[in-house]
Amino acid sequence: MTSAPCILGLDVSTTASKAVCIDAEGSVLGQIATDHTLSSPYPLWREQAPEDWWRAMCKSIQGVLALPSVDAKAVQAIGLTGQMHGLVILDSDGKVLRPAMLWNDGRAGAQCEAIRAQIGLERLVAITGNDAFTGFTAPKLLWVRDHEPENFDRIAQVLLPKDYIRWQLSGEYAADKAGAGGTLMLDLASRTWASDLLKELNIPEAWLPPTYEGTTTTGKVSHTCASETGLPEGVPIYAGGGDQAAQAVGVGAIHPSTWAVTLGTSGVVFAPCDHPRIDSLGRAHAFPHALPETWHMMGVMLSAAGSLQWYRDTFAGNTSYDKLLSEAADVEPGSEGLFFSPYLSGERTPHADPLVRGSFIGLTSRHGRGHLTRAVLEGVAYGLRDNLLLLRASGLPAPERIRISGGGAKSPLWRQILADIMGYPLNVVEVTEGAAMGAALLAGTGSGIWSSVQEACDATVCTRELSEPGKSESKYLELYEQFTGLYPRLKDFYYA
Ligand code: XUL
Repeated sequence: MTSAPCILGLDVSTTASKAVCIDAEGSVLGQIATDHTLSSPYPLWREQAPEDWWRAMCKSIQGVLALPSVDAKAVQAIGLTGQMHGLVILDSDGKVLRPAMLWNDGRAGAQCEAIRAQIGLERLVAITGNDAFTGFTAPKLLWVRDHEPENFDRIAQVLLPKDYIRWQLSGEYAADKAGAGGTLMLDLASRTWASDLLKELNIPEAWLPPTYEGTTTTGKVSHTCASETGLPEGVPIYAGGGDQAAQAVGVGAIHPSTWAVTLGTSGVVFAPCDHPRIDSLGRAHAFPHALPETWHMMGVMLSAAGSLQWYRDTFAGNTSYDKLLSEAADVEPGSEGLFFSPYLSGERTPHADPLVRGSFIGLTSRHGRGHLTRAVLEGVAYGLRDNLLLLRASGLPAPERIRISGGGAKSPLWRQILADIMGYPLNVVEVTEGAAMGAALLAGTGSGIWSSVQEACDATVCTRELSEPGKSESKYLELYEQFTGLYPRLKDFYYA
């Protein structure tokens, strides 16, 4: 049994509550994930019960501490991360008032319109860095005001998913700056709550927790939590970051030269910035990064590896991903004219459109399962290219390198398709649970194991093979032009 200090990264993701324990070299000593379910009681709604997150997190923490490789007494610091933008509302007794409304919830379209009309898009973007997107926290809070006044009237505290877990761990209300950026209630440049905007929207600032930089301590494991989880009482808990910022730390994307692509349920192109930068039309997101004096821009597609998961679960539940991907590898680039538009949950960027739907376009009787699978991989890659071009069009300089991670990045075929379509070499990062790893690196830096986030990344991030754009790049460039024609043509169909 080692008693060298170790750090716990906790991630409340959409699919599971995860606990990952690492040592000072970044080696994973143990990790446990406990799944959640997601409920969609009406079209556009996506909800989870915060109490389920906590129950699942307790199980994961207990599980990881019970591993022979992990010594509970050696846990020196805890870092938090989790799905962004989710709305958790509590009453004055800390009771959850309604299920959490998640990042991919699309019901608050009217509230987004209302915010834009009241504040003005230009001013909204100038203050927060962002347009109003349906998944963001503020529009969902206003949806509760408009549709569930009995809940709205009882709100005493508004939290993000990760910060609900923080409260259960420590009894403290607090948020990280990167996550707070995703609420549409933070002033991007000053990294503090946008008091004037909140007043104009009639959202009491007292409902919001204090915000902290990712490496700052926000409380300690409480007596109650220690008995529930087996964690030693008093272990410091660090602010951490929203999952995308934490993931970027976990893969070493902390300077403008290094961008990150994450192929998880959502698909993200993430660009660190050394000063606050925005897209003046608010088409891309602009948030604080998880480390001080650093910001980032990003494009987020709502259904990336989530599209492949849906496709397999729906059409090929008994077939392994390996088999599906090997069938797709036998199909020529372009899937013989078949396209997939990956808008299964509507879309966030570059098409801020909760009503758009996914589709297969161009089916013929010649197409088999391999074509359909390949079209899904290609459609997601076109969506990520859309986002990369959007960030470049916002004025960001080209990256020197792009690192890729997430479940979908494990497939060499998908990586090659992405490199061909995005037109950049992609470096795979050897990382298990990158967001939890990033949260642990932030906590380890805060607790003095590393002297800076840079040192933490240098000590732990390992890149593996490079997928370089190959002979299909030029063909894909032509096909991408066709793909970009799909959204404008199909859009009206969904509104009809
Ligand atoms: C980021 C976003 C998603 C969620 C999923 O803006 O909405 O990546 O955080 O975990």
